[in-house]
Amino acid sequence: MTAQSNLRDAGVPSRQIGGFITIVAATAALGGLLFGYDTGVISGALLFLKGAFGLTAQMQGVVTSAVLAGATVAAGFGGWLADRFGRRLVMLVLAVLFVVGALLSAIAGTVSALVAGRVLIGLCIGVVSFVAPLYIAEVAPPDRRGALVSLNQLAITIGILVSYVVDSAFADSGAWRWMLGLGAVPGMVLAGGMLVLPETPRWLIKQAREADARKVLLRTRSADQVDHEIQEIKADLLLEHQALGWKAFLVPAMRRPLTIGVGLAILQQITGINTVIYYAPTIFQSAGFETAKASILATAGVGLVNVLMTIVALKIIDRAGRRALLLTGTAGMAVSLAVFAAGYAFGGALPGFRWIAIASLMAYVGFFAIGLGPIFWLLISEIFPLGIRGRAMGAATIANWGFNLLVALTFLQLLQSAGPAATFLIYAALSVIGWFFAYRLVPETKGRTLEQIERFWVEGRPIKEW
Ligand code: BGC
Repeated sequence: MTAQSNLRDAGVPSRQIGGFITIVAATAALGGLLFGYDTGVISGALLFLKGAFGLTAQMQGVVTSAVLAGATVAAGFGGWLADRFGRRLVMLVLAVLFVVGALLSAIAGTVSALVAGRVLIGLCIGVVSFVAPLYIAEVAPPDRRGALVSLNQLAITIGILVSYVVDSAFADSGAWRWMLGLGAVPGMVLAGGMLVLPETPRWLIKQAREADARKVLLRTRSADQVDHEIQEIKADLLLEHQALGWKAFLVPAMRRPLTIGVGLAILQQITGINTVIYYAPTIFQSAGFETAKASILATAGVGLVNVLMTIVALKIIDRAGRRALLLTGTAGMAVSLAVFAAGYAFGGALPGFRWIAIASLMAYVGFFAIGLGPIFWLLISEIFPLGIRGRAMGAATIANWGFNLLVALTFLQLLQSAGPAATFLIYAALSVIGWFFAYRLVPETKGRTLEQIERFWVEGRPIKEW
């Protein structure tokens, strides 16, 4: 290191460090924006794709699920990619592929070209959905990690809201090519950003590039924390060497975080969030908002609540802690869903019901946004030991997308066969199960370094002692 950089390093004011780290995290979170936009945009585009390609109901299902299926598959090898080639390079390549996928879908002349474009986007989403939070968690200082990683969830919700707005803006002209193609814009910005952002210190040290890691740490921490953090990461890596590749997953100390990560992944989806995110207009129409316009407006309202409550979560997550938010959020989801279901069962035909429907669904989405939404993605970036982090996050992400696909495929059928009251009551019951799962198993990770968290697993500490 040069004397000049020494001087600069010792003197970087903390405000400047804070600003830099926020820019790094916000840029990486564009991955979340793409995730939200590309999963949200299809509901509106579908109306016109039907006409343009003469899609049967079955083919509509294929076009809609193409992204989810691609994401499920890609999450399987994304972890390996991130461990092997580094988080930054993977993010850069993904950003370029996002642009290609968006343009392919936008110019598609046949259904197969369209599906190919959507599958490509799905593959990218599957990987970005966890490499972005992983990247941020590894660059962030412990005391701001919760908020910084959750920027990614905020970006997801903004992406969903923007997709609703874009869909309704192009609805009159039916310009579906624009709806799908606009996803290329954040893709380009992300690619530009990843060209200049640094690799994460943890991954660099794993590659024996300590000098490079030190440079990154000096830009993202105050100088007095750097040596300590490097030592911690190294100690962590020593532990990793004692573990044996994939067999590491079977060691008891790893089993607990894996159960939590995969369990929360499944719970995040089977409590029904995407039935609302993907099908809100349909739900609102059946609840009494007759015109398409009214139900689209109601849907935009849901999207807005999702964004606003995620901002609330971001503000308090590093103080209130993960557990408190998760438990409050999941309890609130259960109650709101039960109210929605009871409203349907007892007053579905009454004129006032639609207001109960909209209020309870908004409350449900709001509670998701302060709990399971951000906290699932945050916890899976925190709880896994470094040696298996990439692959373990991959496993949790596969479960998340796989169950997302499952719920998307079964929801409409469930609605038809069991009716709305029973369907939403099932999601309410699953939220109750989710609450007990979180209460019994999920530890508090706020303010701890990733290395401390790892040591807690190895020591086998009970949740209460965290
Ligand atoms: C979930 C997505 C969901 C989104 C809604 C994310 O945390 O993983 O499936 O669509 O939140 O905000």
